[in-house]
Amino acid sequence: MLSKKHLLRTTDLTYDDFMQILQTAVMFEEVNERRIKKVPALRGRTVVNMFFEPSTRTRGSFELAEKRLSCDTMNMGGSTSSTVKGESLKDTILTLNAMKVDCYVVRSSHAGAPYQVAKYTDACVIDAGDGKHQHPTQALLDLYTIWRRKGGFDGLRVGIVGDIAHSRVCGSLVPALKILGAHVTLIAPQTLLPARPDVLGADAVTADLDAALPELDVVYMLRVQMERLEGAPFPSLREYNMLFGLTRERDALMRPDAIICHPGPINRGVELDSYMADHPERSVILDQVYAGLCVRMSVLYLLLGGNENDITA
Ligand code: CP
Repeated sequence: MLSKKHLLRTTDLTYDDFMQILQTAVMFEEVNERRIKKVPALRGRTVVNMFFEPSTRTRGSFELAEKRLSCDTMNMGGSTSSTVKGESLKDTILTLNAMKVDCYVVRSSHAGAPYQVAKYTDACVIDAGDGKHQHPTQALLDLYTIWRRKGGFDGLRVGIVGDIAHSRVCGSLVPALKILGAHVTLIAPQTLLPARPDVLGADAVTADLDAALPELDVVYMLRVQMERLEGAPFPSLREYNMLFGLTRERDALMRPDAIICHPGPINRGVELDSYMADHPERSVILDQVYAGLCVRMSVLYLLLGGNENDITA
């Protein structure tokens, strides 16, 4: 079991917590390779998925993870809950608490919403992405993908490229990589950096992608968050792609064994060209999706206190 009650931010986790989650996810990867991909590890536990913002990967993999662990699940949020009739988040949680639920998985455009949920419940709360703030299970699935490919983190050189200012992925991933011993460089135009990029804890910040690329073991491309851009942080998408996109031409600048990550959804032709997104040796973008399933099973299992005897075949 994890020593924490909730998963709200990666800075709450220790080195040992990260490794426990990743090693437990390996166990669930084995479950997901079986013909019957379901174990009774969390039978009788109830999870509420509260998605107040669109999601394909996070929502889909949480729902599937819960089913494969034999949880009972409820899906709330958006137009399907009474929040559209004006019910407060507090009253929604108090109402669901009365049904004796064990876990809330919360995705919201409002930074801090999962913390509010945690204030009103004794159930465990998992942040599934809140505003520009955190997306801890995204960081965990990124770590799992990198760890499986590279075998460790100590001294690994990771470059995170693009829309740092609006990225909850970055907010969770940079501290996690630092706790695990990686060297992190942020690569972005000045207009897509937060006012204090040093607060994230990266080792270096640069606007020169071409100079940074030859040094990197992992090139992590961030989505340009069109829905959160204010003003005009760059003249055009074409210019952004020329300066900060992982184009086919930049393949030659990368180390032979460097890998490409992206949290999805991809804006093809903006953050990276299709040639790079679909690169058979370098791109691990679909591995990240699969890791999302294994890691979310691991997090649910560890937070809700599953029994290892229920996993072994
Ligand atoms: N990476 C990620 O959170 O994707 P979704 O918005 O599809 O869940």
